[in-house]
Amino acid sequence: MAIQTIGVVGAGQMGRGIAQVAAMSEFKVHLFDINEEGLNFGYDFIKKQLDKGVAKGKWDESFVEKAMSNLVKTTNMNDLKDADLIVEAATENKTIKFDIFKKLDEIAKEGAILASNTSSISITEIAAATKRPGSVAGMHFMNPVPVMKLVETITGLETSEETIKAVEEAAQKMGKTVVRADDVAGFAVNRILMPMINEAFYTLYEGVATAKGIDDAMKLGTNQPMGPLELADFIGLDTCLAIMEVLHDGLGDTKYRPCPLLKKYVTAGRFGRKVGKGVYEY
Ligand code: CAA
Repeated sequence: MAIQTIGVVGAGQMGRGIAQVAAMSEFKVHLFDINEEGLNFGYDFIKKQLDKGVAKGKWDESFVEKAMSNLVKTTNMNDLKDADLIVEAATENKTIKFDIFKKLDEIAKEGAILASNTSSISITEIAAATKRPGSVAGMHFMNPVPVMKLVETITGLETSEETIKAVEEAAQKMGKTVVRADDVAGFAVNRILMPMINEAFYTLYEGVATAKGIDDAMKLGTNQPMGPLELADFIGLDTCLAIMEVLHDGLGDTKYRPCPLLKKYVTAGRFGRKVGKGVYEY
């Protein structure tokens, strides 16, 4: 199925990024959020990002007008009924996601694909909340969505080849490179990234080096754009901990146990950049 209209659920950091790249890639986009204030903020943020591109000479005003004309915001989930693909990017919480997928399954037209941007929840389990598990897949974008080139696609137990191919074609049309992963805890990116971040916390916890020392070592020594602790603050320490817990529970190996220091920061509410403090203060 050639996808033309995309619904995006959630206008937060990930959802608004997905809506932006989709609208820039000539898809018709319906951006939905139940929270009107959050929706307006997300919509205005997209416009600001597009305007910044004009100021930087990346594209012109007419491109911005065209992209914005492709984008509709709504607080009514029923407006997603005509979408060929709906990408869910709501809070990373099982109960919330299962509830959204049940509703989307009722609203979405027959044949529509339902995708989740989850970074760690099982696609097979999400699909089981619907009556169309063959048409459910993972579409894991990276943050910041307009900048990062990867989309990790995930096949649940029942995801059809037709579904995953349609999702991959849509991601490619958004200018992304696709890597397909099986539905195993952490998929590919977080299976590798999160243990590295967790190990950076152990390195700090054991006093091997300072936070800045660890970040500088990895930035300058291994050519990463951000050090692992800085990246953890960027992703959110609560999210990092939640993903480590999924790896630990799902794979059952003690090598995935979350570092006590990471847990301590989260308990203290030091969630990272989004709250102004994590490993560092902003
Ligand atoms: N939204 C849109 N564009 C953004 C942006 C944002 N939030 N942040 C930065 N950019 C753009 C800037 O506009 C700039 O674009 P141009 O080059 O066209 O002017 C470009 O990105 C570079 O930005 P800056 O010069 O301000 O900053 P930088 O060079 O330090 O790069 C960064 C910032 C792109 C975030 C870079 O540090 C980086 O790549 N960090 C690593 C990010 C990463 O690893 N993300 C994946 C996290 S894992 C994940 O998302 C999955 C998960 O499940 C946890």
